[in-house]
Amino acid sequence: MLLALPGPAFVLDTVRLDNGTVLDAFALTANPNATRLPRVLLNRAQEATDLAGEHHTVRTASSIWDASLQLARCLERQHDRLDDPDLAVADKHVLELGAGSGLVGLACAAFGARSVTLTDTASVVASILEPNRQLNPALMPYVSCTALDWLHQERDRQLVPNAIDVIVAADVVWVADLVLPLVRTIRALASASTIVLLAHQTRSAQVDEVLFAALAEAGFVATPVASITMHPSYMKPGIRIVKFRLGGSVATL
Ligand SMILES: C[S@@+](CC[C@H](N)C(=O)[O-])C[C@H]1O[C@@H](n2cnc3c(N)ncnc32)[C@H](O)[C@@H]1O
Repeated sequence: MLLALPGPAFVLDTVRLDNGTVLDAFALTANPNATRLPRVLLNRAQEATDLAGEHHTVRTASSIWDASLQLARCLERQHDRLDDPDLAVADKHVLELGAGSGLVGLACAAFGARSVTLTDTASVVASILEPNRQLNPALMPYVSCTALDWLHQERDRQLVPNAIDVIVAADVVWVADLVLPLVRTIRALASASTIVLLAHQTRSAQVDEVLFAALAEAGFVATPVASITMHPSYMKPGIRIVKFRLGGSVATL
């Protein structure tokens, strides 16, 4: 099933390379001395190819969605003001689910993460994530890209690292039938010490209900990130960041 999502509203800077290519640029603003590069470059000029059997197009994945900008800017602020130590990614092993363009994960690498694993479906990894990783050579030693399809998580999760401190995911839930595969994937990856940071944009109250109930059933306890901790320039009705960690009783999914 393909579902057209209303497009992103927040705008990134752009840079034009010598060869005329125009790239998106996520400029780092907080504590530049502690970062690995001045800006993360992304190329979203992808063909709007329909991916048969998937829930999206390459255009959906290569767009830079508003929730991902809020999450990246919120994490960036933690360099300067540790409102919430759970949001500090420096020296952590980070994995991004449904990474799309890879903005959040690449930004985590720029903020000093020890390692970042960018994941999405195999076609998105090949056509968007790996090219975007290579646009940022200073981050390449810290970043790897791996196919992790939630519909095949039992197969694909063998390829991702075991020790994950922080799982990040932005705007990954918009249809109900992706919820259980996604929650099973998060459950399979998380250990007792893992923090899951979900930047969520509400698109359907019904889907949200299914999502939060499934996470609770999987044993995750939710804590909303305070709005004072979020980035004021990237606030939007319907977007919130919720932290999850294992702690509740676990049902079989
Ligand atoms: C709305 S986009 C968000 C992309 C990016 N996180 C952002 O916020 O800019 C949803 C992402 O979920 C990914 N996705 C959808 N179904 C998936 C699946 N079964 N397994 C892994 N990723 C999936 C899509 O490829 C896409 O990158």
